[in-house]
Amino acid sequence: MTTPSKEALAKIAPVLTKRWLSPDAWKLSVYERLDGYTGLKKALKAHPDDLIQLIKDSGLRGRGGAGFPTGMKWGFIPQNDGKPHYLVVNADEGEPGTCQDLPLMMADPHSLIEGVIIASYAIRANFAAIYIRGEAIHAARRLRQAVDDARARGYLGRNILGSGFDLDVVVHSGAGAYICGEETALLDSLEGYRGQPRLRPPFPATHGLYNSPTVVNNVETIATVPYIVLGGSAWFRTMGTEKSPGTKIFSVSGRVVQPGQYECGLGVTLRQLIELCGGMKPGHNLRFWTPGGSSTPLLTDEHLDAPLDFEGMMGVGTMLGTAAVQIFSDQDCPVYATYRWIEFYHHESCGKCTPCREGNYWMKGILRRILSGQGTHADLDTLLDACDNLLGRSFCALGDGATSPVTSSIKYFKQDYLDYIEGRKAPMFSPGELVGA
Ligand code: NAI
Ligand code: SF4
Repeated sequence: MTTPSKEALAKIAPVLTKRWLSPDAWKLSVYERLDGYTGLKKALKAHPDDLIQLIKDSGLRGRGGAGFPTGMKWGFIPQNDGKPHYLVVNADEGEPGTCQDLPLMMADPHSLIEGVIIASYAIRANFAAIYIRGEAIHAARRLRQAVDDARARGYLGRNILGSGFDLDVVVHSGAGAYICGEETALLDSLEGYRGQPRLRPPFPATHGLYNSPTVVNNVETIATVPYIVLGGSAWFRTMGTEKSPGTKIFSVSGRVVQPGQYECGLGVTLRQLIELCGGMKPGHNLRFWTPGGSSTPLLTDEHLDAPLDFEGMMGVGTMLGTAAVQIFSDQDCPVYATYRWIEFYHHESCGKCTPCREGNYWMKGILRRILSGQGTHADLDTLLDACDNLLGRSFCALGDGATSPVTSSIKYFKQDYLDYIEGRKAPMFSPGELVGA
C-alpha cells in the first residue's frame, strides 16, 4: 500500500460523507445531534426565490451524470401557474460501477430528506417522491423509516416547524430496470405505466409528473443542498473548480488496494484517486479505466492527470458521467469488458426504438463472435457502423451510452481485437453459441 502524496490528500473533502463513520448516524436523534435539520430551519426562514438564487450562485451541478446547473433547473419551474409542482429524487442508481447514492442513503438518509424538504420549499412543491431501484431493499427500508421518523418529529406533513409549508414524501421502489433511471421513463414508471422514455422537449421542468412542473434531481445533488444553505455559496465554491464547484463522491472499483467511496473536490485526477486508494493492487498495472461507468468512453494511462470535473473530462473527449471510476489492469481484457457492458445494454434496452434494440443485439453477437475466435476484420467496421447508427439516432441516452465502450475500446485497443481475430489470443468462448447468445 503506497502513501498518498500531499497533493492527493489535499483533495479529500468530506462534506456529504462526514457523518458516514459516526455510529447510528442514520437515526434521527443522532442526525440531529450532529447538526442535522439545522439547514432546514434556516431555509424555512428564507424566501423560496432566495433559496433558488443561493443554489444558482453556488454553481451546484447535477451529480447524476449530466452536470446540468441545479439552480437553473429549479428556476425553470413556472410560478403562479396554478398547477401542482413536484420534486422527484432519482435514486435509481444503475450505471455499472456507480455506488454513491446507495451508501449515502444507508449511512445518512436524513441528509437526503432534509435536502428534499428544502428543495420542495424552494420550488413550491407539496409532494415529493424518492424513486429507488428495486434491488435496493435495505436502503428503501431505511429511507421509509427515516421518512416516518421525520414526519413524527414535525419535519414533514402539515405546517412544517410552524412555517405554513406542507410536504409529504413517498419512497417508491422500482422493479430493477436500468432505463427507469432515465428521468422520463422514471416518471412514467412512477405514474404506473411501463417505464419507457418520453420525448424531450418538453422537459420535466414544465411537463413532468402527471404533466405538471417537476424537478428531477439525483440523490447526491439534493443531499448537498442543506450544506450549501448552512455554509453559503462562497464556501461551496472554495471546493472543486471554478466551473465545477464543490465535492463529488467518486466510487472507485477494480484493481486498486482499497476500492470504495472517496469524496474529493471536483478536479481531482485519476493519479491522485489511485494514490488515495493505496495504489494499484500488487502485480497490476493500469491499462484502462472509466470516469463515469460504462456510458463514458474508456480512458488509458495517457489520461492519468486529466481533471475529473465536467470540463476536464470534455477536454479528453468524454463526460464525467456518474464518477464511477472503474480501474482495469494489464490482467484485464478490454474486448471482454466491452462485451460484458454491451450484454448489459442489450439486456436493459427498453426496446422502444430500433437503433438501440437491434443495434445492441447485433453488437453483442459480433463481440461474442470475436471473443470466440470466429471474428473477421470486417466485424470491426460493422461494429463502428452500428455505433454510427446508434449515436444520435437513439431515442434516449441509453443507446448513445452503449456506443462509448465499443468506439473507445476499438480506438485504444484495436490490437486486442486483432489478436482474437488473427488467432494470437485464445478464444474466451467456444464457437458453439454465437449471435444472440
Ligand atoms: P441531459 O443533459 O439531457 O439532461 C440533464 C438534465 O437537465 C435533465 O434533468 C433535463 O431534464 C434537464 N434539462 C436539459 N435541458 C433542459 C432544458 N432546455 N430545459 C429544462 N430542463 C433541461 O442528460 P440526461 O439524459 O437526463 O442524463 C444523462 C446522464 O445520466 C449521463 O451523463 C449518464 O452518465 C447519466 N446516467 C446516470 C446513471 C446513474 O446511475 N446515476 C445511469 C445512467 C446514466
Ligand atoms: Fe429504449 Fe434504447 Fe431507445 Fe432508449 S435508446 S428508448 S432504452 S430502445
